[in-house]
Amino acid sequence: MSMDLPIERFRSYRGYENRATPPEDAELTHVGPGTPCGEYLRRFWHGIALSREVGDLPLAIRLFGEDLVLFRDGGGRVGLLHRHCAHRGASLEFGRIEERGIRCCYHGWRWDVDGTLLEAPAEPANSPLFARVRQGGYPAFEYKGIVFAYLGPPEETPEFPVYDTFEIPDTVMEPYTCSFPCNWLQVTENGIDPVHSMFLHTLVNGPQFADTWGVLGDVEYHEGAFAVYCTIARRVDAHIWTRVQENILPNITQSGAVHSIDGHTRRYFGRNTFFRWCVPVDDTNTKVVAWANFGERTDPTQWNTPDNIEILEQGEIFERPAEERQRRPGDYEAMVGQGAIVVHARENRGTSDKGVSLLRRRIRDDIRALAAGRRPAQPASFGPAPIPTWSGDNVLRIPVREDEDDRALRAATMEKVVAIYRDAEELRGDERDVRITAELQKLESADPIQSTLKEQS
Ligand code: FES
Ligand SMILES: [Fe+2]
Repeated sequence: MSMDLPIERFRSYRGYENRATPPEDAELTHVGPGTPCGEYLRRFWHGIALSREVGDLPLAIRLFGEDLVLFRDGGGRVGLLHRHCAHRGASLEFGRIEERGIRCCYHGWRWDVDGTLLEAPAEPANSPLFARVRQGGYPAFEYKGIVFAYLGPPEETPEFPVYDTFEIPDTVMEPYTCSFPCNWLQVTENGIDPVHSMFLHTLVNGPQFADTWGVLGDVEYHEGAFAVYCTIARRVDAHIWTRVQENILPNITQSGAVHSIDGHTRRYFGRNTFFRWCVPVDDTNTKVVAWANFGERTDPTQWNTPDNIEILEQGEIFERPAEERQRRPGDYEAMVGQGAIVVHARENRGTSDKGVSLLRRRIRDDIRALAAGRRPAQPASFGPAPIPTWSGDNVLRIPVREDEDDRALRAATMEKVVAIYRDAEELRGDERDVRITAELQKLESADPIQSTLKEQS
């Protein structure tokens, strides 16, 4: 029996020619000690664990490819020490937490939270070991339910940056954590990729939030001194819904409301639903440490239940049956499915990936600058706290105008919103909130196209 196979048409297939895997972009993805990216990331404070993860036993933790142990001693101080005891290498994961410091299980050496050797019971009291030996450790402290640490050179320790979205009035901040078995950069890049919200979260897999998330918005990207922003303007009935997502360098993402925003209800200077650090555990694992926010200006407090925070926040849905993951993939499937480390040389990025390219360029520039001896910009050095950020949503009543192109109207509105944020950069707290809200309300009654043109001339 002969088969009538269309052999000629088979010649256009390209699997065989595209099998090679070029090397990954080590400059941006490898984070171990001494790597350019690892050294760069270590110059910042990172959220590394939740306070509630630190109990009465030491917590084995891995950060930037280093094995560490995290504990809170009897005096309430947190210690983040190299995991293996500087005496003969026993793991401090099995140590005993004491009123001051932690005692190694093997020969009883006791280490303070800063790595000072406090006791070595089998050694003479005047042993030179006390002056010579120190357990490696890093500064750590707790703030609003999260443990923060700095793993860089001690003489370069930056000020801890307090952002405006740490202090939104009447907002409940719930710390949460989740883990992704993939590189830190692809988790971070998700924050500067608003196009995935339209497709992954809505059009391809059915709405995971409101169906208006599938409205193809106009996306633009902006650079700030220590952050990159993407703005999305969508038309929803008589409203223009403007949204800002924000990546604070190097690995922070914050984004507007998720569960309560649909573009139908007016909102002025809505703020972020999460603020998260995407912290490398090593090259192929990432720990997200974050706050989920609940309140009037973000998502409502009814979402604030212990189950919901980790499961539903950001559309990241964990531990689901394999079939369900295939039928309704979320961020986890998308990011982890990219592979342990995305090989950039295999990508085919387009105009809708501009944010990803921009973020990579900024990070690469910073890495190279540091290698050349220039420190990366530290947000805390840009004026007094709280540091102003943009992330959040506005829903403004600006109906379609018969005589105007709606795309131009949306673009002018978004441009104006960005100008309002930039103009309020010097203000802080309530004063800034009041100014921005008032300007947004004014914008509803103004002609955004005319006022933008006027400002440009
Ligand atoms: S290995 Fe820790 S005290 Fe000996
Ligand atoms: Fe997402």
